[in-house]
Amino acid sequence: MVALIENPLRVGLRQERTPEPLILVIFGASGDLTQRKLIPSIYQLKLEQRLPPEITVVGVARRDWSHDFFREHLRKGVEEFGGGTQADAIWDEFAQGLFYCSGNMDDPAAYQKLNALLSELDQTRRTRGNRVFYLAVSPNFFVEAIQQLGSAGMLARPDKHRLVIEKPFGRDLTTAQSLNEVVQAVCKEEQVYRIDHYLGKETVQNLMVFRFANAIFEPLWNRQYVDHVQITVAETVGVEDRAGYYESSGALRDMVQNHILQLLALTAMDPPNSLDADSLRNEKVKVLQATRLADLSNLEYSAARGQYRTGWMKGKPVPGYREEPGVSPTSTTPTYVAMKLLIDNWRWQGVPFYLRTGKRLPKKVSEISIQFRDVPLLIFQSAAQQANPNVLTMRIQPNEGIALRFDAKMPGPDLRSRTVNMDFSYGSSFGMATADAYTRLLLDCMLGDQTLFTRADEVEAAWRVVMPALTVWEAPSDPSLISTYEAGTWDPESAELLMNADGRRWRRL
Ligand code: BG6
Repeated sequence: MVALIENPLRVGLRQERTPEPLILVIFGASGDLTQRKLIPSIYQLKLEQRLPPEITVVGVARRDWSHDFFREHLRKGVEEFGGGTQADAIWDEFAQGLFYCSGNMDDPAAYQKLNALLSELDQTRRTRGNRVFYLAVSPNFFVEAIQQLGSAGMLARPDKHRLVIEKPFGRDLTTAQSLNEVVQAVCKEEQVYRIDHYLGKETVQNLMVFRFANAIFEPLWNRQYVDHVQITVAETVGVEDRAGYYESSGALRDMVQNHILQLLALTAMDPPNSLDADSLRNEKVKVLQATRLADLSNLEYSAARGQYRTGWMKGKPVPGYREEPGVSPTSTTPTYVAMKLLIDNWRWQGVPFYLRTGKRLPKKVSEISIQFRDVPLLIFQSAAQQANPNVLTMRIQPNEGIALRFDAKMPGPDLRSRTVNMDFSYGSSFGMATADAYTRLLLDCMLGDQTLFTRADEVEAAWRVVMPALTVWEAPSDPSLISTYEAGTWDPESAELLMNADGRRWRRL
Protein backbone atom coordinates (compact mmCIF):
# COMPACT_ATOMS: atom_id res chain seq x y z
CA MET A 1 0.00 0.00 0.00
CA VAL A 2 3.00 2.33 0.38
CA ALA A 3 4.14 4.38 -2.55
CA LEU A 4 7.63 5.80 -2.23
CA ILE A 5 8.26 9.04 -4.04
CA GLU A 6 11.89 9.60 -4.87
CA ASN A 7 12.92 13.08 -3.84
CA PRO A 8 16.67 13.57 -3.99
CA LEU A 9 16.38 17.01 -2.38
CA ARG A 10 15.02 15.61 0.79
CA VAL A 11 17.87 13.89 2.51
CA GLY A 12 16.94 12.71 5.95
CA LEU A 13 15.67 9.89 8.05
CA ARG A 14 12.62 9.40 5.89
CA GLN A 15 11.70 10.10 2.36
CA GLU A 16 8.52 11.98 1.65
CA ARG A 17 5.81 9.48 0.99
CA THR A 18 2.20 9.62 -0.10
CA PRO A 19 -0.41 7.06 0.90
CA GLU A 20 -2.35 5.14 -1.67
CA PRO A 21 -5.99 6.16 -2.17
CA LEU A 22 -7.99 4.84 0.77
CA ILE A 23 -11.08 5.28 2.91
CA LEU A 24 -10.58 6.28 6.52
CA VAL A 25 -13.57 5.02 8.49
CA ILE A 26 -13.95 6.78 11.83
CA PHE A 27 -16.14 5.15 14.46
CA GLY A 28 -17.27 7.76 16.96
CA ALA A 29 -17.35 10.41 14.25
CA SER A 30 -19.75 12.71 16.10
CA GLY A 31 -17.35 12.98 19.05
CA ASP A 32 -14.78 15.54 20.11
CA LEU A 33 -11.70 13.68 18.95
CA THR A 34 -12.95 13.61 15.36
CA GLN A 35 -13.92 17.26 15.30
CA ARG A 36 -10.98 18.66 17.26
CA LYS A 37 -8.09 16.48 16.21
CA LEU A 38 -8.64 13.90 13.49
CA ILE A 39 -10.27 15.98 10.77
CA PRO A 40 -8.16 19.14 11.36
CA SER A 41 -5.07 16.90 11.11
CA ILE A 42 -6.22 15.20 7.91
CA TYR A 43 -7.11 18.54 6.42
CA GLN A 44 -3.66 19.82 7.35
CA LEU A 45 -2.14 16.88 5.47
CA LYS A 46 -4.33 17.76 2.53
CA LEU A 47 -3.09 21.37 2.59
CA GLU A 48 0.49 20.10 2.71
CA GLN A 49 -0.27 17.96 -0.33
CA ARG A 50 0.63 14.80 1.54
CA LEU A 51 -2.56 13.01 0.51
CA PRO A 52 -3.78 11.75 -2.83
CA PRO A 53 -6.96 13.41 -4.17
CA GLU A 54 -8.98 10.22 -3.71
CA ILE A 55 -8.67 10.28 0.11
CA THR A 56 -12.12 9.63 1.54
CA VAL A 57 -13.42 9.78 5.10
CA VAL A 58 -16.52 7.98 6.30
CA GLY A 59 -17.78 8.93 9.75
CA VAL A 60 -19.82 6.39 11.68
CA ALA A 61 -21.88 7.23 14.77
CA ARG A 62 -25.34 6.73 16.21
CA ARG A 63 -26.79 10.15 15.44
CA ASP A 64 -28.91 10.49 12.38
CA TRP A 65 -26.85 13.01 10.43
CA SER A 66 -26.73 13.70 6.69
CA HIS A 67 -23.47 13.88 4.73
CA ASP A 68 -23.91 17.64 4.48
CA PHE A 69 -24.57 18.10 8.18
CA PHE A 70 -21.43 16.06 8.93
CA ARG A 71 -19.36 18.15 6.50
CA GLU A 72 -20.54 21.39 8.09
CA HIS A 73 -19.84 20.02 11.57
CA LEU A 74 -16.28 19.14 10.52
CA ARG A 75 -15.74 22.47 8.78
CA LYS A 76 -16.56 24.22 12.07
CA GLY A 77 -14.04 21.96 13.79
CA VAL A 78 -11.29 22.90 11.35
CA GLU A 79 -12.16 26.59 11.79
CA GLU A 80 -12.10 26.39 15.54
CA PHE A 81 -9.45 23.81 16.37
CA GLY A 82 -7.33 23.54 13.23
CA GLY A 83 -5.67 26.07 11.02
CA GLY A 84 -8.98 27.27 9.48
CA THR A 85 -10.37 26.69 6.01
CA GLN A 86 -9.14 29.86 4.31
CA ALA A 87 -8.28 27.83 1.24
CA ASP A 88 -11.96 27.48 0.31
CA ALA A 89 -11.40 25.64 -2.95
CA ILE A 90 -9.25 23.06 -1.20
CA TRP A 91 -11.80 22.66 1.57
CA ASP A 92 -14.58 22.16 -0.99
CA GLU A 93 -12.60 19.45 -2.71
CA PHE A 94 -11.78 17.85 0.64
CA ALA A 95 -15.42 18.05 1.80
CA GLN A 96 -16.56 16.12 -1.27
CA GLY A 97 -14.66 13.17 0.14
CA LEU A 98 -16.43 13.28 3.54
CA PHE A 99 -19.38 10.93 4.13
CA TYR A 100 -21.50 9.92 7.06
CA CYS A 101 -23.12 6.61 7.91
CA SER A 102 -25.33 6.29 10.99
CA GLY A 103 -25.51 3.05 12.91
CA ASN A 104 -25.18 1.31 16.25
CA MET A 105 -21.88 -0.35 17.03
CA ASP A 106 -23.60 -3.54 18.17
CA ASP A 107 -25.90 -3.88 15.18
CA PRO A 108 -24.60 -6.27 12.47
CA ALA A 109 -26.90 -4.57 9.94
CA ALA A 110 -25.00 -1.30 10.49
CA TYR A 111 -21.79 -2.99 9.33
CA GLN A 112 -23.54 -4.38 6.25
CA LYS A 113 -24.80 -0.90 5.44
CA LEU A 114 -21.33 0.56 5.99
CA ASN A 115 -19.72 -2.12 3.86
CA ALA A 116 -22.13 -1.38 1.03
CA LEU A 117 -21.30 2.33 1.23
CA LEU A 118 -17.56 1.56 1.23
CA SER A 119 -17.89 -0.63 -1.87
CA GLU A 120 -19.82 2.09 -3.63
CA LEU A 121 -17.18 4.67 -2.70
CA ASP A 122 -14.46 2.36 -3.97
CA GLN A 123 -16.04 2.83 -7.39
CA THR A 124 -16.86 6.52 -7.26
CA ARG A 125 -13.72 7.64 -5.40
CA ARG A 126 -11.34 5.00 -6.79
CA THR A 127 -10.14 3.91 -3.35
CA ARG A 128 -9.28 0.35 -4.43
CA GLY A 129 -10.64 -1.44 -1.36
CA ASN A 130 -8.03 0.17 0.95
CA ARG A 131 -9.44 0.93 4.37
CA VAL A 132 -8.26 2.25 7.72
CA PHE A 133 -10.79 1.70 10.52
CA TYR A 134 -10.26 4.15 13.35
CA LEU A 135 -11.90 3.42 16.72
CA ALA A 136 -12.40 6.87 18.20
CA VAL A 137 -15.09 5.55 20.54
CA SER A 138 -15.28 4.90 24.26
CA PRO A 139 -13.10 1.88 25.15
CA ASN A 140 -16.29 0.08 26.26
CA PHE A 141 -17.10 -0.36 22.57
CA PHE A 142 -13.70 -1.60 21.37
CA VAL A 143 -14.44 -5.32 21.70
CA GLU A 144 -17.87 -5.05 20.08
CA ALA A 145 -16.62 -3.01 17.13
CA ILE A 146 -13.60 -5.24 16.50
CA GLN A 147 -15.64 -8.42 16.64
CA GLN A 148 -18.32 -6.99 14.37
CA LEU A 149 -15.74 -5.80 11.85
CA GLY A 150 -14.20 -9.26 11.98
CA SER A 151 -17.52 -11.08 11.50
CA ALA A 152 -18.41 -8.81 8.59
CA GLY A 153 -15.10 -9.78 6.94
CA MET A 154 -14.04 -6.14 6.94
CA LEU A 155 -10.57 -6.85 8.35
CA ALA A 156 -9.89 -9.94 6.29
CA ARG A 157 -7.24 -8.47 3.97
CA PRO A 158 -3.96 -7.75 5.79
CA ASP A 159 -2.66 -5.93 2.72
CA LYS A 160 -5.70 -3.62 2.53
CA HIS A 161 -7.35 -3.32 5.94
CA ARG A 162 -5.96 -1.58 9.00
CA LEU A 163 -7.31 -1.01 12.48
CA VAL A 164 -6.46 2.00 14.65
CA ILE A 165 -7.23 1.75 18.36
CA GLU A 166 -7.21 4.79 20.62
CA LYS A 167 -6.00 4.66 24.18
CA PRO A 168 -6.66 3.43 26.82
CA PHE A 169 -5.82 -0.07 25.67
CA GLY A 170 -7.33 -2.12 28.50
CA ARG A 171 -7.88 -1.13 32.13
CA ASP A 172 -5.15 -3.38 33.49
CA LEU A 173 -2.92 -6.21 32.37
CA THR A 174 -5.69 -8.80 32.18
CA THR A 175 -8.09 -6.67 30.16
CA ALA A 176 -5.27 -5.55 27.85
CA GLN A 177 -4.38 -9.20 27.25
CA SER A 178 -7.99 -10.09 26.47
CA LEU A 179 -8.32 -7.11 24.14
CA ASN A 180 -5.18 -8.24 22.35
CA GLU A 181 -6.76 -11.69 21.97
CA VAL A 182 -9.91 -10.17 20.51
CA VAL A 183 -7.81 -8.18 18.06
CA GLN A 184 -5.61 -11.13 17.13
CA ALA A 185 -8.66 -13.31 16.47
CA VAL A 186 -9.74 -11.06 13.60
CA CYS A 187 -6.56 -9.56 12.21
CA LYS A 188 -2.79 -9.76 12.14
CA GLU A 189 -0.53 -7.60 14.28
CA GLU A 190 0.76 -5.88 11.14
CA GLN A 191 -2.76 -4.46 10.64
CA VAL A 192 -3.01 -2.95 14.12
CA TYR A 193 -2.13 0.63 15.09
CA ARG A 194 -2.42 1.28 18.84
CA ILE A 195 -2.27 5.03 19.29
CA ASP A 196 -0.26 6.85 21.91
CA HIS A 197 -0.32 10.44 20.74
CA TYR A 198 2.92 11.22 22.61
CA LEU A 199 4.78 9.19 20.00
CA GLY A 200 3.55 11.60 17.33
CA LYS A 201 5.09 14.62 19.04
CA GLU A 202 8.13 16.00 17.22
CA THR A 203 10.16 16.29 20.39
CA VAL A 204 9.46 12.69 21.34
CA GLN A 205 10.67 11.51 17.95
CA ASN A 206 13.63 13.78 18.35
CA LEU A 207 14.68 11.73 21.36
CA MET A 208 15.75 9.05 18.92
CA VAL A 209 17.55 11.44 16.60
CA PHE A 210 19.26 13.14 19.51
CA ARG A 211 20.44 9.87 20.97
CA PHE A 212 21.29 7.93 17.84
CA ALA A 213 22.36 10.53 15.29
CA ASN A 214 24.93 12.07 17.62
CA ALA A 215 28.05 10.33 18.82
CA ILE A 216 28.82 12.29 21.97
CA PHE A 217 25.85 11.35 24.19
CA GLU A 218 25.75 7.60 23.87
CA PRO A 219 29.01 6.94 25.80
CA LEU A 220 27.54 8.83 28.79
CA TRP A 221 24.09 7.26 28.58
CA ASN A 222 24.47 4.63 31.28
CA ARG A 223 24.88 3.83 34.96
CA GLN A 224 28.50 4.89 34.96
CA TYR A 225 27.71 8.55 34.33
CA VAL A 226 24.01 9.01 35.03
CA ASP A 227 22.91 9.55 38.62
CA HIS A 228 19.19 9.51 37.96
CA VAL A 229 16.52 10.50 35.46
CA GLN A 230 13.40 12.58 36.12
CA ILE A 231 10.45 12.55 33.76
CA THR A 232 7.76 15.15 34.41
CA VAL A 233 4.47 15.58 32.61
CA ALA A 234 2.69 18.39 34.44
CA GLU A 235 -0.65 19.87 33.43
CA THR A 236 -2.52 22.94 34.59
CA VAL A 237 -5.94 21.68 33.54
CA GLY A 238 -8.19 19.85 35.95
CA VAL A 239 -10.48 16.99 35.06
CA GLU A 240 -12.62 19.34 32.91
CA ASP A 241 -15.79 17.64 31.66
CA ARG A 242 -14.23 14.17 31.59
CA ALA A 243 -15.13 12.95 35.07
CA GLY A 244 -17.09 10.03 33.60
CA TYR A 245 -13.88 8.65 32.10
CA TYR A 246 -11.34 9.99 34.57
CA GLU A 247 -13.00 8.75 37.76
CA SER A 248 -12.43 5.17 36.70
CA SER A 249 -9.07 5.88 35.13
CA GLY A 250 -6.96 8.32 37.18
CA ALA A 251 -3.45 9.54 36.45
CA LEU A 252 -1.81 6.12 36.51
CA ARG A 253 -3.91 4.74 33.67
CA ASP A 254 -4.40 8.04 31.89
CA MET A 255 -0.77 9.13 31.67
CA VAL A 256 1.78 6.77 33.26
CA GLN A 257 0.98 3.40 31.66
CA ASN A 258 1.14 4.92 28.19
CA HIS A 259 2.67 8.37 27.59
CA ILE A 260 5.21 8.42 30.39
CA LEU A 261 6.38 4.84 30.02
CA GLN A 262 6.84 5.52 26.31
CA LEU A 263 9.05 8.47 27.22
CA LEU A 264 10.97 6.23 29.58
CA ALA A 265 11.36 3.51 26.96
CA LEU A 266 12.70 5.92 24.34
CA THR A 267 15.10 7.43 26.85
CA ALA A 268 16.40 4.14 28.20
CA MET A 269 16.30 1.70 25.30
CA ASP A 270 19.37 0.41 23.47
CA PRO A 271 19.99 1.65 19.94
CA PRO A 272 17.82 -0.28 17.50
CA ASN A 273 19.45 -1.86 14.43
CA SER A 274 17.32 0.29 12.17
CA LEU A 275 14.30 2.54 12.29
CA ASP A 276 11.93 -0.09 10.98
CA ALA A 277 8.92 -0.63 13.18
CA ASP A 278 9.90 -3.92 14.72
CA SER A 279 13.56 -3.10 15.40
CA LEU A 280 12.49 -0.05 17.35
CA ARG A 281 9.64 -1.76 19.14
CA ASN A 282 11.81 -4.75 20.07
CA GLU A 283 14.16 -2.41 21.93
CA LYS A 284 11.30 -0.63 23.68
CA VAL A 285 9.77 -3.92 24.75
CA LYS A 286 13.11 -5.14 26.08
CA VAL A 287 13.56 -2.11 28.26
CA LEU A 288 9.95 -2.12 29.51
CA GLN A 289 10.25 -5.78 30.39
CA ALA A 290 13.30 -4.95 32.51
CA THR A 291 11.54 -2.06 34.28
CA ARG A 292 9.98 -2.42 37.71
CA LEU A 293 8.90 -0.41 40.71
CA ALA A 294 11.96 0.18 42.89
CA ASP A 295 10.66 -1.36 46.09
CA LEU A 296 7.79 -3.77 45.84
CA SER A 297 7.59 -4.56 49.54
CA ASN A 298 7.32 -0.89 50.58
CA LEU A 299 5.14 0.70 47.97
CA GLU A 300 5.42 4.17 49.52
CA TYR A 301 9.12 4.24 48.57
CA SER A 302 8.39 3.66 44.92
CA ALA A 303 4.92 5.01 44.20
CA ALA A 304 3.00 8.04 45.46
CA ARG A 305 -0.42 9.34 44.54
CA GLY A 306 -2.26 12.55 45.21
CA GLN A 307 -5.43 14.42 44.46
CA TYR A 308 -5.82 18.16 43.97
CA ARG A 309 -7.88 20.12 46.44
CA THR A 310 -9.31 23.61 46.15
CA GLY A 311 -6.72 26.17 45.18
CA TRP A 312 -5.83 28.97 42.80
CA MET A 313 -4.87 28.92 39.16
CA LYS A 314 -3.83 32.14 37.41
CA GLY A 315 -5.31 34.21 40.22
CA LYS A 316 -8.70 32.48 40.12
CA PRO A 317 -10.12 30.04 42.65
CA VAL A 318 -10.63 26.51 41.33
CA PRO A 319 -12.54 23.62 42.90
CA GLY A 320 -10.85 20.55 44.29
CA TYR A 321 -11.13 17.27 42.40
CA ARG A 322 -13.87 15.93 44.68
CA GLU A 323 -15.94 19.06 44.04
CA GLU A 324 -15.72 18.76 40.24
CA PRO A 325 -18.98 17.86 38.42
CA GLY A 326 -19.44 14.11 38.16
CA VAL A 327 -16.75 13.25 40.73
CA SER A 328 -17.64 11.34 43.87
CA PRO A 329 -17.12 13.38 47.07
CA THR A 330 -15.22 10.39 48.48
CA SER A 331 -13.26 9.61 45.33
CA THR A 332 -9.79 8.12 45.74
CA THR A 333 -8.91 8.51 42.06
CA PRO A 334 -5.38 9.93 41.85
CA THR A 335 -4.92 13.11 39.82
CA TYR A 336 -1.19 12.96 40.56
CA VAL A 337 1.18 10.00 40.47
CA ALA A 338 4.91 9.77 41.12
CA MET A 339 7.02 6.65 40.79
CA LYS A 340 10.53 5.45 41.26
CA LEU A 341 11.42 2.77 38.75
CA LEU A 342 14.53 0.70 38.25
CA ILE A 343 15.63 -0.99 35.07
CA ASP A 344 17.31 -4.33 35.55
CA ASN A 345 19.83 -4.41 32.75
CA TRP A 346 23.54 -3.74 32.28
CA ARG A 347 23.04 -0.18 31.12
CA TRP A 348 20.82 1.05 33.93
CA GLN A 349 21.26 -1.20 36.96
CA GLY A 350 20.79 0.94 40.09
CA VAL A 351 19.89 4.20 38.28
CA PRO A 352 16.48 5.41 39.48
CA PHE A 353 14.00 6.76 36.96
CA TYR A 354 11.61 9.09 38.78
CA LEU A 355 8.35 9.82 37.00
CA ARG A 356 5.62 12.23 37.94
CA THR A 357 2.47 13.57 36.39
CA GLY A 358 -0.43 15.57 37.71
CA LYS A 359 -3.34 17.79 36.88
CA ARG A 360 -3.76 21.28 38.32
CA LEU A 361 -0.03 21.74 38.80
CA PRO A 362 1.36 25.28 38.46
CA LYS A 363 2.68 24.84 34.92
CA LYS A 364 2.06 22.85 31.76
CA VAL A 365 5.43 21.30 31.15
CA SER A 366 6.71 17.94 29.95
CA GLU A 367 10.38 17.16 30.12
CA ILE A 368 12.95 14.46 30.60
CA SER A 369 16.01 15.39 32.55
CA ILE A 370 19.11 13.30 32.87
CA GLN A 371 21.07 14.21 35.94
CA PHE A 372 24.72 13.20 35.71
CA ARG A 373 26.93 12.09 38.56
CA ASP A 374 29.00 14.54 40.57
CA VAL A 375 32.59 15.13 39.56
CA PRO A 376 34.81 12.50 41.22
CA LEU A 377 36.97 15.07 43.01
CA LEU A 378 36.19 18.71 43.57
CA ILE A 379 39.39 20.72 43.29
CA PHE A 380 37.70 24.01 44.04
CA GLN A 381 37.69 23.92 47.78
CA SER A 382 36.03 27.07 49.04
CA ALA A 383 32.36 27.11 49.98
CA ALA A 384 31.66 29.36 47.01
CA GLN A 385 32.94 26.72 44.64
CA GLN A 386 30.35 23.99 44.93
CA ALA A 387 29.91 22.22 41.63
CA ASN A 388 26.40 21.47 40.49
CA PRO A 389 25.83 18.23 38.66
CA ASN A 390 25.35 18.47 34.92
CA VAL A 391 21.77 18.10 33.79
CA LEU A 392 20.61 17.42 30.26
CA THR A 393 16.97 18.40 29.81
CA MET A 394 14.86 17.45 26.86
CA ARG A 395 11.83 19.72 26.79
CA ILE A 396 8.93 17.90 25.20
CA GLN A 397 6.54 20.85 25.54
CA PRO A 398 6.16 23.80 25.63
CA ASN A 399 9.24 25.74 24.51
CA GLU A 400 10.44 22.55 22.82
CA GLY A 401 14.16 22.07 22.92
CA ILE A 402 17.16 20.66 24.74
CA ALA A 403 19.34 22.27 27.40
CA LEU A 404 22.60 21.22 28.98
CA ARG A 405 23.42 22.66 32.36
CA PHE A 406 27.03 23.04 33.39
CA ASP A 407 29.23 25.23 35.54
CA ALA A 408 31.27 28.08 34.13
CA LYS A 409 33.72 30.49 35.68
CA MET A 410 32.23 33.88 36.44
CA PRO A 411 34.19 36.80 35.00
CA GLY A 412 36.45 38.48 37.55
CA PRO A 413 39.64 37.93 39.51
CA ASP A 414 38.13 35.30 41.84
CA LEU A 415 37.69 31.70 40.86
CA ARG A 416 33.94 31.58 41.21
CA SER A 417 31.61 29.51 39.15
CA ARG A 418 27.99 29.76 38.16
CA THR A 419 25.61 27.34 36.53
CA VAL A 420 24.79 28.19 32.94
CA ASN A 421 22.75 26.58 30.18
CA MET A 422 23.55 25.68 26.64
CA ASP A 423 20.19 25.75 24.95
CA PHE A 424 18.72 24.49 21.71
CA SER A 425 15.21 25.63 20.90
CA TYR A 426 13.07 24.24 18.11
CA GLY A 427 11.39 27.58 17.57
CA SER A 428 14.57 29.58 16.94
CA SER A 429 16.51 26.83 15.15
CA PHE A 430 13.83 25.71 12.76
CA GLY A 431 11.58 28.78 12.78
CA MET A 432 8.39 26.77 12.52
CA ALA A 433 5.78 25.48 14.89
CA THR A 434 5.84 21.75 15.56
CA ALA A 435 2.96 19.87 13.94
CA ASP A 436 0.14 18.30 15.93
CA ALA A 437 0.93 14.71 16.88
CA TYR A 438 -2.18 13.38 15.16
CA THR A 439 -1.07 14.76 11.80
CA ARG A 440 2.02 12.60 11.88
CA LEU A 441 0.29 9.53 13.30
CA LEU A 442 -2.59 9.63 10.83
CA LEU A 443 -0.20 9.95 7.93
CA ASP A 444 1.90 7.05 9.20
CA CYS A 445 -1.01 4.69 9.59
CA MET A 446 -2.27 5.61 6.13
CA LEU A 447 1.22 4.81 4.86
CA GLY A 448 1.31 1.52 6.73
CA ASP A 449 4.22 2.54 8.95
CA GLN A 450 3.82 1.10 12.46
CA THR A 451 7.00 2.57 13.95
CA LEU A 452 5.19 5.12 16.12
CA PHE A 453 2.45 2.75 17.31
CA THR A 454 2.62 0.37 20.23
CA ARG A 455 2.76 -3.36 19.68
CA ALA A 456 0.71 -5.92 21.62
CA ASP A 457 3.63 -7.10 23.78
CA GLU A 458 4.70 -3.52 24.44
CA VAL A 459 1.31 -2.49 25.78
CA GLU A 460 1.30 -5.54 28.04
CA ALA A 461 4.86 -4.90 29.27
CA ALA A 462 3.83 -1.35 30.21
CA TRP A 463 0.82 -2.63 32.16
CA ARG A 464 3.08 -5.07 34.03
CA VAL A 465 5.17 -2.17 35.30
CA VAL A 466 2.24 -0.33 36.89
CA MET A 467 0.20 -3.29 38.10
CA PRO A 468 1.70 -3.57 41.63
CA ALA A 469 0.72 0.03 42.40
CA LEU A 470 -2.64 -0.24 40.67
CA THR A 471 -3.55 -3.36 42.63
CA VAL A 472 -2.82 -1.80 46.01
CA TRP A 473 -4.39 1.55 45.20
CA GLU A 474 -7.58 0.03 43.86
CA ALA A 475 -8.25 -2.05 46.94
CA PRO A 476 -11.06 -0.42 48.96
CA SER A 477 -9.49 2.19 51.19
CA ASP A 478 -10.22 5.07 53.47
CA PRO A 479 -10.56 8.21 51.28
CA SER A 480 -8.55 10.20 53.81
CA LEU A 481 -5.49 8.05 53.04
CA ILE A 482 -4.84 9.66 49.69
CA SER A 483 -2.48 12.56 49.95
CA THR A 484 -3.77 15.86 48.59
CA TYR A 485 -2.16 18.96 47.11
CA GLU A 486 -3.53 22.40 46.68
CA ALA A 487 -4.47 23.14 43.07
CA GLY A 488 -1.79 25.34 41.57
CA THR A 489 1.05 23.94 43.68
CA TRP A 490 3.66 21.29 42.99
CA ASP A 491 4.04 17.79 44.40
CA PRO A 492 2.00 16.33 47.25
CA GLU A 493 3.81 15.34 50.41
CA SER A 494 3.81 11.64 49.49
CA ALA A 495 5.85 12.42 46.38
CA GLU A 496 8.24 14.63 48.31
CA LEU A 497 8.79 11.81 50.79
CA LEU A 498 9.53 9.35 48.00
CA MET A 499 12.25 11.65 46.65
CA ASN A 500 13.59 12.80 50.02
CA ALA A 501 14.06 9.21 51.11
CA ASP A 502 16.76 9.06 48.42
CA GLY A 503 18.28 12.39 49.41
CA ARG A 504 17.16 13.91 46.11
CA ARG A 505 14.71 16.62 45.07
CA TRP A 506 12.15 17.02 42.35
CA ARG A 507 13.17 19.59 39.83
CA ARG A 508 11.43 22.94 40.29
CA LEU A 509 10.16 23.88 36.88
C1 BG6 B 1 -4.40 12.42 27.17
C2 BG6 B 1 -5.01 12.31 28.53
O1 BG6 B 1 -4.02 11.16 26.69
O2 BG6 B 1 -3.26 13.26 27.24
C3 BG6 B 1 -5.36 13.67 29.08
O3 BG6 B 1 -6.16 11.49 28.47
C4 BG6 B 1 -4.17 14.60 29.04
O4 BG6 B 1 -5.87 13.57 30.41
C5 BG6 B 1 -3.54 14.58 27.66
O5 BG6 B 1 -4.61 15.90 29.38
C6 BG6 B 1 -2.24 15.36 27.66
O6 BG6 B 1 -1.78 15.47 26.34
P1 BG6 B 1 -0.86 16.67 25.90
O7 BG6 B 1 -0.54 16.37 24.48
O8 BG6 B 1 -1.66 17.93 26.11
O9 BG6 B 1 0.33 16.63 26.81
